[in-house]
Amino acid sequence: MLIVKVGGGDIDLDAIAVDLASLARPFVLLHGANKLRDNVAVALGHPPTVVESVSGYTSVLTDEHAIDALMAAYAGIRNKRLVEALRRAGVNALGLTGLDGGLVQGVRGPGIRTIRDGRKLLLRDLSGKPRRVDGRLLRTLLGEGYAPVITVPIVGEDGGALNTENDDVLALLASDLGASDVVSLIEAPGLLSDRRDPSTVVRDLESADLEAWEGRVEGRMRRKIRALRTLFELAAPPGPVVRIADGRTRQPVSEALAGAGTRVTLSPGRQLAVPTSADQDPGHALHATSSAGWLERQRVHELDPYGKRGLTLVDGTGATVRDIEGRVYVDCIGGHGALALGHRHPALAVALADQAERVWSVPGSYGSPARARLLERLHEALPAELDRTFLSNSGTEAVEAALKIARSHTGRSGFVAALRGFHGRTMGALSVTSEARYREPFEPLLGGVRRIPFNDRDALRDAVDEEVAAVVLEPVQGEAGVHPADPGFLQAAREACDAAGALLVLDEVQTGFGRTGRMFAFERAGVVPDVLCLAKSIAGGLPLGATAVRRGIELPLGAHGSTFGGNPLACAVGRATLDVLLDTELLSEVEEKGHRLEALLVRASLPVVREVRRVGLMVGIQLRLPVRPYLARLQEEGVLALAAGSTVLRLLPPLIITGEQIELVARALVRVLGEAPEASSDAARDRSLESRGDPYAPGQGSEPGPALLSRP
Ligand SMILES: Cc1ncc(COP(=O)(O)O)c(C=O)c1O
Repeated sequence: MLIVKVGGGDIDLDAIAVDLASLARPFVLLHGANKLRDNVAVALGHPPTVVESVSGYTSVLTDEHAIDALMAAYAGIRNKRLVEALRRAGVNALGLTGLDGGLVQGVRGPGIRTIRDGRKLLLRDLSGKPRRVDGRLLRTLLGEGYAPVITVPIVGEDGGALNTENDDVLALLASDLGASDVVSLIEAPGLLSDRRDPSTVVRDLESADLEAWEGRVEGRMRRKIRALRTLFELAAPPGPVVRIADGRTRQPVSEALAGAGTRVTLSPGRQLAVPTSADQDPGHALHATSSAGWLERQRVHELDPYGKRGLTLVDGTGATVRDIEGRVYVDCIGGHGALALGHRHPALAVALADQAERVWSVPGSYGSPARARLLERLHEALPAELDRTFLSNSGTEAVEAALKIARSHTGRSGFVAALRGFHGRTMGALSVTSEARYREPFEPLLGGVRRIPFNDRDALRDAVDEEVAAVVLEPVQGEAGVHPADPGFLQAAREACDAAGALLVLDEVQTGFGRTGRMFAFERAGVVPDVLCLAKSIAGGLPLGATAVRRGIELPLGAHGSTFGGNPLACAVGRATLDVLLDTELLSEVEEKGHRLEALLVRASLPVVREVRRVGLMVGIQLRLPVRPYLARLQEEGVLALAAGSTVLRLLPPLIITGEQIELVARALVRVLGEAPEASSDAARDRSLESRGDPYAPGQGSEPGPALLSRP
C-alpha cells in the first residue's frame, strides 16, 4: 500500500496525477492547500486572523470563517481538481475530507490564550489533533478499486469540522493501512542538512535518528519530523519506507520511489531509553541499557512471586514486543491472554488519550459516560438474559463478586468446582481453584467446596444439591492446558443448577472476547449462565473485570464495591475494544488463524508432541517432556510463549496476529520442538528461565511429567 502526501504549495496536479496513474498500484493521496486557502479567505471577505499567544507565538486562528475558507479551498477546489486530474489520467479517484463518513476523527485543542486590551482571553480555535482513522472505510474503497483523495477538515468530538496537520493524519493512515511505502512531497529536494543548500540532501535515515533531527530543524519541517516519529512509533515492524522528496519534478512519486530525496526506515534495533533520574547516574550506566541491568534494579525491591525470564520489555506494537536490547518477539503470551487486539492498538490508544484528557476516576456512586458506554456495548454482545454487570479490575475480582452474589442470592454457602479449574488468586477465587499447591499454604479457605472431575456429568449431577449456591466452571480450562468442556457437560450443569436452585457461574476470564472464535465460549454449548465472569481482553490490556448477572439477580446496596472498579480510563479502552470486536471481521478470522497454526504444527509430526488441543486462538501443545526448556529456546528464536502445567506449551497470541507472524511462530515451534531434548534442556540450564518458572501457569497439567529441568 502506497500513501502519498502533497503539501499545500504550488504543485503541478497533472504531473502528479499522470505519475500516480503510471504506477498502476493502489494508493491513497493526502493533500493540503494552504496558499489557496489564504487567497480564498481574502476573496470571501475574511482574511486570515493572525493572533499572538501569551507565550509570544503567532498563529492563524481557525474560526468559523477560516473553516469556510478551508472547506472551499481544500475540499471544494484542490480536492476536486486532483480528482479531476486523476480521472483524466485514468484513475478512479474519489475525493473525501476527514469529515466525510467520520473518516478522520480528532480532538479539539485547548484554544489560543492571548491578550487583548490588557486582558487575558481564551480564543476558541477550531483546530486539533487527529486521533483515529477509519481504516475500514478506506480498505473498502481500495478493495473496490477507488483511489481515495483525502484532505482536511477532520471531524471533532462534537461532530464539527476541525483543521489539523496533514502530517499527523499521514502518521495514522500509514499505521492503520499498514502502508509499505509513504511518499511525502515537499518544495525542496529532501531533508537538507543545510537548509539553504539544496545539494545537502540527507539520503538515508533510520527512525531512531529522527529525534536528533527534530531538534535541528525549525518550523514546518520540525512538525513534519515529529509526525514522522509518531508514524514510526505506531508502525508495526518492518514499518514503511518513507521518502521525503521534491514535489516539483515531472514524476515526483516515481522518482521518490526510485530513490530521490530522503529515505527513512524503521531502525532495526531501535532501543528505547527508559528515562529515569537514575539514568543520569553513571553508576547506573549498565542498568539503563540492558535487560539484565533493569532486572537487577527491579530485583532489589520487588517481592516477586513470578520468577523472571531474563528479558526487559520496553515496547509493544500489534502482536510483537521488543526488549531493551532491540530484539523483537512475536508475543504469544499476549498479556496472559489479555491482548486480543495486541499491543497499543491505535483505536485503543486514541480512546485512552482522549479519556486521559477528561477524567480518570469517578466513584461508583456517580454517573460516568465512559462506564455507561462500555456497559451498553458489553450488553450488545451478551445475551439479553444477562442484563446487568458489576465492574471491577481483574479476573479474580470478577470471580469474587460472582461468589458473593451466589451466596447472597441463594442464601446458601456451598460451591461445586472442577478439578484442574483455575479461577484466580484471591481467597474466594482460590477456594474454587483446584491446584493444591496454590491453595494449601493459605488454608483455611472457603468451606463447602465440592470438586468434581471436569466433563464428568454424573459426578456433577451428584454434587449439586440444595446446599450449593453455585457451580463454577470454565468453558475451556485454560491454565490447566486448554481442555474444552463438552457441550453436554455444560448443558448438564445448566440442568442440575435449575433443578437444585443453584446458580451456574461461567468463568470466561480467559475465553471471553473472541479468544475461542466466538465472542464468548458458552455460545458453543448453547448454554447461558446465571453469572458470567469476564476480564483479560475486555479492555485491551488495561485492568478491568466484569461480572454479568441474569435478570432478577441483585447485589444489595452496600453489599460489594471497588475503588477502581470500572474506572473511566479502562472503560473507555474497553468500549473501544468492543467497537473493534463487534464492528469488524476480526472474530470471523480467529478460527482460520488458529487452524493454520495447528495445521503447520500437526504437519510437522513432531515426536515430542503428544497432542495439539486448540479452540480458536487458544492453543495447548501437550508435550511428552517438560515444557520449560522449550520455552527458553523459543524465546531465543523470537517467540514468547507460556506454560500450562509442566508439560503443556500454551499460546495465547493477539487475535490480530498476521498470517506471516503465524508462520514465523510455527516455523520457530517446529524448529525448537524438533530439537533433541538434550539441546533444549541444556539451553534451559544455561540460559534458564528463572528457577521458579512461571507460577502464573499452574503446574497441574493432567499428564504427570518429570520434575522441571530448569530447577537449580
Ligand atoms: C479462567 C480464569 N479465571 C480467573 C483468572 C484470574 O484472573 P486475574 O489474573 O486477572 O485475576 C484467570 C487468570 O488466568 C483465568 O484464566
